[in-house]
Amino acid sequence: MEGDVTIEGRHRPVLLEEALAILQPRTGGRYLDATVGLGGHAEAILAESAPAGRLFGIDRDAEALALARDRLGHFGGRVELVQGDFARLGAIAAESGWTPFDGILFDLGVSSFQLDNASRGFSFMRDGPLDMRMDRGGDERSAAELLARISERELVRLLQEYGEERWAKRIAARIVQERQTQMPTSTAQLARLVATAVPRRAWPRRIHVATRTFQALRIAVNNELVRLMRGLQEAVQWLTAGGRICVISFHSLEDRIVKEAFRGWARSEPPRVHLLTKRPVGPTEREIDANPRARSAKLRAAERR
Ligand SMILES: C[S@@+](CC[C@H](N)C(=O)[O-])C[C@H]1O[C@@H](n2cnc3c(N)ncnc32)[C@H](O)[C@@H]1O
Repeated sequence: MEGDVTIEGRHRPVLLEEALAILQPRTGGRYLDATVGLGGHAEAILAESAPAGRLFGIDRDAEALALARDRLGHFGGRVELVQGDFARLGAIAAESGWTPFDGILFDLGVSSFQLDNASRGFSFMRDGPLDMRMDRGGDERSAAELLARISERELVRLLQEYGEERWAKRIAARIVQERQTQMPTSTAQLARLVATAVPRRAWPRRIHVATRTFQALRIAVNNELVRLMRGLQEAVQWLTAGGRICVISFHSLEDRIVKEAFRGWARSEPPRVHLLTKRPVGPTEREIDANPRARSAKLRAAERR
């Protein structure tokens, strides 16, 4: 496997203590990690629910799942991991005889493994093919294919909507102009194009000038927001009474979807959940210092009635 991320070199899972305080893993409990990634949260849930708590883990990314399998192997029959899309989590878990669950966790977005692995094309920090697919075996198009075909108008909309990028028009125009002679096919080429499209004085201070463009493309390539809406609606159906759902999101579009889904459940007649977080929970300064990626994390949780 390419890249310099090893299981030992991984980051600490984001908002781990806070997620455990919500899920309260206990022996005999059954838990679903809908985004198992490298298995950081899953490992802690399994450790806390020893000796007989069980965990079912899903991830779209086969490579991450292979690493999680190594990491969690010592829990033996207490854990089962399956490659799949959390938008179909009910069917996937039911097929394996796992439903319902006492706790469900979503830790959204990309893993450090995906970001740090140049060949996956998620990051402008490392040059690699412009790919960004979480499931490389699926039928989704890579970011390069998407950019080769999309109309300028659609690209503007995509950058505005998924990237909340105020320079969307200039960036889209630059990409469309450039692709007439040379199609951007690497992350470094795209990052350079974005940098030349946005006036230097307008570059953001805290993030790279291409951050929003990369976020927008990743969301589009993986159809992330639609999958999230579906995944949440699936999840609430498979919680036991008193079971808890905990969602960690990393940008405002995701958080809005989570907030609205939770509110809808809380206000339905009869209410399906009781909200455990009126406002989202964020990381402590200490966590941000140790792991800057945690900066934008927000956790929301609810309990099934
Ligand atoms: C932030 S990482 C999870 C990290 C994990 N909690 C840990 O501690 O190692 C997010 C993971 O969600 C996965 N993912 C994103 N969308 C998904 C979907 N629709 N279905 C299943 N997995 C998804 C990604 O492949 C990625 O591995």
